[in-house]
Amino acid sequence: MLRLKNINTYYGKVHALKNVSLHLGEGEIVTLIGANGAGKTTILNTISGVTPAASGELIFEKDAIATLGVDRIVKLGISQVPEGRQVFKPLSVEDNLELGAYLRYRGREGKEAIRQDRDQVYALFPRLKERRKQQAGTMSGGEQQMLAIGRALMAKPRMLLLDEPSMGLAPLVVQEIFRVLETLRRERGTTILLVEQNAKAALRLADRGYVLETGKVILEGPASELMENADVKRAYLGKDKKEIWER
Ligand SMILES: Nc1ncnc2c1ncn2[C@@H]1O[C@H](COP(=O)(O)OP(=O)(O)OP(=O)(O)O)[C@@H](O)[C@H]1O
Ligand SMILES: [Mg+2]
Repeated sequence: MLRLKNINTYYGKVHALKNVSLHLGEGEIVTLIGANGAGKTTILNTISGVTPAASGELIFEKDAIATLGVDRIVKLGISQVPEGRQVFKPLSVEDNLELGAYLRYRGREGKEAIRQDRDQVYALFPRLKERRKQQAGTMSGGEQQMLAIGRALMAKPRMLLLDEPSMGLAPLVVQEIFRVLETLRRERGTTILLVEQNAKAALRLADRGYVLETGKVILEGPASELMENADVKRAYLGKDKKEIWER
């Protein structure tokens, strides 16, 4: 469904992605694992058009999307949930969700269809419905993460890009969010690319994974194999992982 081939992305002189190749099949959940600065966010931003690649191929279905720009990529069906759960803090939950559908309003899609999708988001995250009039900035971290995902869903994505949805959240909230991701894949066939530092939880959910180090893919395979891999265990799953990240 999505294929990156020898992608190179730069920030000025910083060569953030070095010949990255990866793919996602329809309905797959794939995770990207790697330490701080490895290039995980850059991969998501390159796919979504936020930080376009300097070279390489980016193919979604049959379209080359590397130079399309953010809005057109969203329209094709790729939605990103950015790092740090960026919700519009002064706005209500409901208004945040409306904003997630702005391209569809512009496309003159019926309000009724959009309302139905909002109800589906509320069905996935009942907490958001209870708090629909609340200012987003006053919600808890977990609730804001749910809202950020809900907003991305309002664009009716076929592929969801998630950047560290578990960051700073209590284990029970992480479980709830991961359960929703599983539901989305099962009930809607949504394809999911999940960036996580919580490698254990991510590998449990995912079908396959890629391990990144300083802008390069150094390892890939089925999640079950990565979980058993000695290097992965040592660097990302073991007791010492904190020390490695803090070096
Ligand atoms: N706007 C920017 N300007 C310059 N360099 C950047 C910029 N954004 C990222 N980088 C650099 O690109 C590299 C990859 O960063 P990226 O944010 O993709 O890492 P990451 O794997 O998401 O890390 P983290 O786990 O900390 O979120 C890093 O070396 C980072 O310093
Ligand atoms: Mg990041």
